Amino acid sequence: MQRLVENINRLKREKNAVILAHCYQPVEVDLVADYVGDSLYLSQVASTTDADIIVFAGVYFMAQTAKILSPEKKVLLPQMDAGCRMADMINHKQLMEFKVKNPNLPTVCYVNSTAEVKAECDLCVTSSNAVKVIKSLNKDKILFVPDTYLGKWVEKQLGNIEIITYPGFCPTHLQIRPVDIENARKQHPNAVVLAHPECHMSVTDIADYVGSTTGIMNYVAKSNMKSFIIATEQGVVDRLKRDYPNKEIIPIKENIVCPNMKMTSLEDILNVLENETNEIVVDSDIAQKAVRCIDAMLEASV
Ligand code: 13P
Ligand code: SF4
Repeated sequence: MQRLVENINRLKREKNAVILAHCYQPVEVDLVADYVGDSLYLSQVASTTDADIIVFAGVYFMAQTAKILSPEKKVLLPQMDAGCRMADMINHKQLMEFKVKNPNLPTVCYVNSTAEVKAECDLCVTSSNAVKVIKSLNKDKILFVPDTYLGKWVEKQLGNIEIITYPGFCPTHLQIRPVDIENARKQHPNAVVLAHPECHMSVTDIADYVGSTTGIMNYVAKSNMKSFIIATEQGVVDRLKRDYPNKEIIPIKENIVCPNMKMTSLEDILNVLENETNEIVVDSDIAQKAVRCIDAMLEASV
């Protein structure tokens, strides 16, 4: 392991490369990562880094978003098969049909979507800025793709907007059920429940706090409480346990894991860095259209 880490770090220096890692990655990826965080943070880093190569330890749409934001850079994905099951629930044709069924409405997409989908949307959001960015649109009715639960959660937070949602969802977060929260509360009555907005509404409705990956991690960092029930992907649990050994970090249940996020290994990172393989390519017409809705998001979330 130490050898792998040293080789990766040497190649990073030689090639002026940076490694961006999402918090759902296997925790050992942090040993070589320059930046670790949620989707918003990592896209902000991708848009501003002066590295020549970005290795994106995450899933396909994240590396694709980095490439759209930094077209002159080489963006490498350690595992080409690491997709997002939610992003794959809507393609260009399905989006166009959804828009035809609900005409003349601004269309907002979750960053968990393909470049082809982003190219046809007006605005993009991540889970950490969705409320603020959608509010900035100042509309009373919009379309939202693909995550129905994030869309409905934002609608509830804002109170004065109708959000027509596409029926996409995250299969990992939907494994969490209200009964899991009830059971965890019974076992840990002094713990607070922190949930990701990709969870079902019946879960976010009863959580004490709902926020993105970084939101949840910041909550634990700043809170005076001692015990936290974490209703999101295992990677967040692993990092919180590592970073806060004096706090009690309780996973909502076993195996809340995004299988695609866990595909990345240190060997894969070394391999793509050494051979500069698994390069992300985005059609330039699509990239030019898609960048507008991502840039609009980055401006609105400042
Ligand atoms: P955030 O990084 O915005 O919390 O999103 C979670 C996620 O599912 C990434 O795919
Ligand atoms: Fe996609 Fe869900 Fe995995 Fe996030 S956790 S990458 S939304 S499948």
